[in-house]
Amino acid sequence: MSPQRKLLLLGTFVHSKTQQHLEFLHNAAVAVDEQGKIAAIERDVAEASEAQARLLTQLGWDEAEVDVTVAAEGQFFFPGFVDTHIHAPQYANAGIFGKSSLLDWLETYTFPLESSLADLSKARRVYTRCVRRTLSHGTTTATYYATIDVAATNLLADLCLSMGQRAFVGRACMDNPDVNPDYYRDASAAETLRATQQTIDHMRSIDPGFDIVSPILTPRFAPSCSREAMAGLAQLHRETNLPIQTHISENLGEIQLVKSMFPEADSYAGVYDKYGLLTPKTVLAHAVHISEEEAELIAHRGSKVSHCPCSNTSLTSGPARVRWMWDRGIDVGLGTDMSGGYSPSILDAARQAALVSRHVAMGIHVPEGGGAAAVEQEKERERVKLTVEEALYLATRGGARCVGLEDKIGGFEVGMEWDAQLVSLSQVSDDGGMEEHDHGHGLVDVFGWESWGDRLAKWLYNGDDRNTKRVWVKGRLVHKRK
Ligand code: GUN
Ligand code: FE
Repeated sequence: MSPQRKLLLLGTFVHSKTQQHLEFLHNAAVAVDEQGKIAAIERDVAEASEAQARLLTQLGWDEAEVDVTVAAEGQFFFPGFVDTHIHAPQYANAGIFGKSSLLDWLETYTFPLESSLADLSKARRVYTRCVRRTLSHGTTTATYYATIDVAATNLLADLCLSMGQRAFVGRACMDNPDVNPDYYRDASAAETLRATQQTIDHMRSIDPGFDIVSPILTPRFAPSCSREAMAGLAQLHRETNLPIQTHISENLGEIQLVKSMFPEADSYAGVYDKYGLLTPKTVLAHAVHISEEEAELIAHRGSKVSHCPCSNTSLTSGPARVRWMWDRGIDVGLGTDMSGGYSPSILDAARQAALVSRHVAMGIHVPEGGGAAAVEQEKERERVKLTVEEALYLATRGGARCVGLEDKIGGFEVGMEWDAQLVSLSQVSDDGGMEEHDHGHGLVDVFGWESWGDRLAKWLYNGDDRNTKRVWVKGRLVHKRK
């Protein structure tokens, strides 16, 4: 890759300071070095030009060696989004799910599509579009499931690296002949492990430090895997410390299946724990129906949960309880789970997380006739709702914690990497003119009375990829909206 230029970003910066609070830096400047790291931040100066001059002096950088990007009026820089759970091959099916739920959806739509991507020209078309599209929605880090095919999985890793998306790429492991179709499964546990190793070796060859692209061990879900495969992947985790991803307690039929298949375990989480897969580097997708005991076990092991609200609604899996998981000490991030979820956008996932939390609230029974119990339940209804700040935290820092990158990405701090997006609420086109034809989408502050908090709320609830003007990963510009 060609060496990068230094960057200087000027204007308003917004990021999560904590789970509950966004921080707004106005008239600020951020300097990014050739390695894509934030070298310095200057805030709250009178003019952006003053911030620029101060930073250059402080760092001893020459003006000629930096590329300057200014967030204009109505624009701001925001950390790139982290998608903690997405199936790249399923991009081709986004929106196609009919009235199915998980198990018949897998059989009807998903396994046939995934198996067809053993054709590398097909895989290239789908994966290129998936990476391009998610980048255009501000996803700077994606935790991907690929398929069982080694060459196609390696191709996905190549494409992420060349298009500049930070990614965890997992070859789907599925060797159980009773659950997986004959046309789409691993021949044996040994084959699962051998094929997984081949993808690890490939990613080590293209990105030795796993700096942008890293393998992730991917037992698809307990029903897909033999005990030997799960235990073997856990052993590989202990040897390599590579992250792990799988699905858990998404759907009631799936939970029944797990119960009947693994009588030796107390629960679904118990199956993963028994075979060594519940670790601090494990991301569990869904967790819609986990019990109190399972939540306690997951929290105790330090495993993370990827909340996939769009998928959970689309496949009628159920409403996952983010506040409830947070209360129990579980780190939560967001996943599109495309194409269980139809949308490739994490902004959309954040919005749907906020809405689903309101459905959870509406499901809390408030006894009639008032009294102390009713007051308590009313309070609980309020408490479980996610705020704008919390939804945007889930999309950035929360996701970064899930994938173990909280020291690198998810916020704007000196020493972190410049994974960011430039957001425009006013639909300013590149020549500076307003795109009048696009009214109804421009989120501009019509009366001039909105706080920055209001603006972020408008973005969360109304925004889409048209608002995402530029996207950077590790200082590299990876998307620019025409
Ligand atoms: N469980 C096993 N495989 C899948 C998948 O591809 N998507 C979802 N949502 N759940 C799964
Ligand atoms: Fe999934």
